[in-house]
Amino acid sequence: MQLIAGNWKMNGLKRHLAELEALLAAPAPPARLVVCPPATLLAAFAERAAGSAVAIGAQDCHPEPAGAFTGDLSAEMLADAGARYVIVGHSERRMGHHETDALVQAKARAAQRAGLAPIVCVGESLAEREAGRTLAVVLAQLAASLPADGPRIVAYEPVWAIGSGRTPSPAEIEEVHAAIVARVGPHVPVLYGGSVNPRNAGPILALPSVGGALVGGASLEARSFLAVAAAARP
Ligand code: PGA
Repeated sequence: MQLIAGNWKMNGLKRHLAELEALLAAPAPPARLVVCPPATLLAAFAERAAGSAVAIGAQDCHPEPAGAFTGDLSAEMLADAGARYVIVGHSERRMGHHETDALVQAKARAAQRAGLAPIVCVGESLAEREAGRTLAVVLAQLAASLPADGPRIVAYEPVWAIGSGRTPSPAEIEEVHAAIVARVGPHVPVLYGGSVNPRNAGPILALPSVGGALVGGASLEARSFLAVAAAARP
């Protein structure tokens, strides 16, 4: 089954628990669903989704298990709050928080240590794509930020496709995914992310090397998230 993960980013207040309620009330789509709300809502979402087919994930973690790191959250704390997945190395963190591949890999290992599955994000900038460097950039990020073993998920998210309404063509997505699968093997799911919505989800999720989707804006409302998930390959 493909995995459809929703990245809520810095969106969501207590009242948005209603969106999770709507997801839980809907007929199960042909996909594994993960919702990654902001950390303030993790525990409430995990409690509400307990025993359901919807898993809860976090959006970042610190590499250390505990200590003097004001404002940070460890993978152990996220697991304790009920998370089972954590996104690491999202481009908004690589750019906005100057995260390196080495730090992203340390975060992914911390997630595994805590029993969480890391969703490790990689992706090229527009300048890198236009320079014909997409595969080189993505494979280098992958080599330096993905743990070599253990439970792990890759998300290929071209930076220029995130929140822009622009996506690579299906052939371009398949080319990158096939290169990633050739590196990581067939058992590591490789999600596509960047402006996935109910209209383009079908052709993207039909691609043979695509293991699911990491959905930002279209995951905030249950109706559009479910419409994306409905397009999954069972
Ligand atoms: P988007 O975000 O679907 O809003 O483009 C995807 C992501 O950043 O994970």
